[in-house]
Amino acid sequence: PNDNVVGSKSPTAVAINSASKAGEWIKSRLGTIKQLDTKLSPQDLVTDVDKGAELMIRKLILTHFPDHDILGEEGVPPGAAASEAALAKASTSEYLWIIDPVDGTTNFVHGFPFFCVSIALAYRGEVVVGVIYDPIRDELFVAEKGKGAYVHGNPTLVSEDAELSNSVLAVGFNPDREFALPMNMKGINALALETRSIRAGGSAALHLAYVAAGRLSGYYEVGLNAWDVAAGALLVKESGGTVTDTAGNPYHLGVRHLVATNGKIHNELLQSLAAAEATGI
Ligand code: IPD
Ligand code: CA
Ligand code: CA
Ligand code: CA
Repeated sequence: PNDNVVGSKSPTAVAINSASKAGEWIKSRLGTIKQLDTKLSPQDLVTDVDKGAELMIRKLILTHFPDHDILGEEGVPPGAAASEAALAKASTSEYLWIIDPVDGTTNFVHGFPFFCVSIALAYRGEVVVGVIYDPIRDELFVAEKGKGAYVHGNPTLVSEDAELSNSVLAVGFNPDREFALPMNMKGINALALETRSIRAGGSAALHLAYVAAGRLSGYYEVGLNAWDVAAGALLVKESGGTVTDTAGNPYHLGVRHLVATNGKIHNELLQSLAAAEATGI
């Protein structure tokens, strides 16, 4: 369906098919993890299911688009520097698929049923397709640049909340406790006081899908990677929302400190984060 992309099967159809197949397999493996490792910190988990799902998605994509490039979380060495380098290298690609095979690995490991598959396609550095699949609820979120966003075929629309005080926001606890978490906590502290309530579901991509669908009015987290947010950011934008970095610059693939909202509370949220950063609470 996207005018910018080629292939015998549409990229959106391939993304949907890959996310659905991987999601079903991930769900079938819940509670039967064979291998549990940590990456850079004891909080940063990876399982055989993350790796298996990524391989499955890579194969499906390459069957249809053998010339396209793929950036997948489990193909990149852990750490901010390596992921930034991988993104810089990948951003020269004409067509780049960006995969998070399991977003919410900690939840998956603990049996907390809130995780998803996230697949995006960027054309010359700009995300044009975003698909997020939640296998537990069988919810499929699909966005195409300029063509809107849908959950199981029904258009998604951001919420109407116009003030932080009557908004529910999601936040995230980045596993990088040295750098990202202290910075994150200042913002989380401020938002906990200024909103109706905050939620930390443990999946960046699903938080973004929920902002798109109007179930949350915003989401804030620092230290994210391209694969956490590429698909979700397009979903939010195509549902009428706003996605920027914490300084208010428009979203692009390299943004790591993310603010995504219904648009109406965006400035108030940015101001609240800036005030928290300045006062250091
Ligand atoms: C993580 C999740 C989590 C967020 C972390 C991400 P992963 O991704 O999205 O909600 O707080 O920052 O790294 O490792 O489960 O794919
Ligand atoms: Ca991970
Ligand atoms: Ca992730
Ligand atoms: Ca992941």
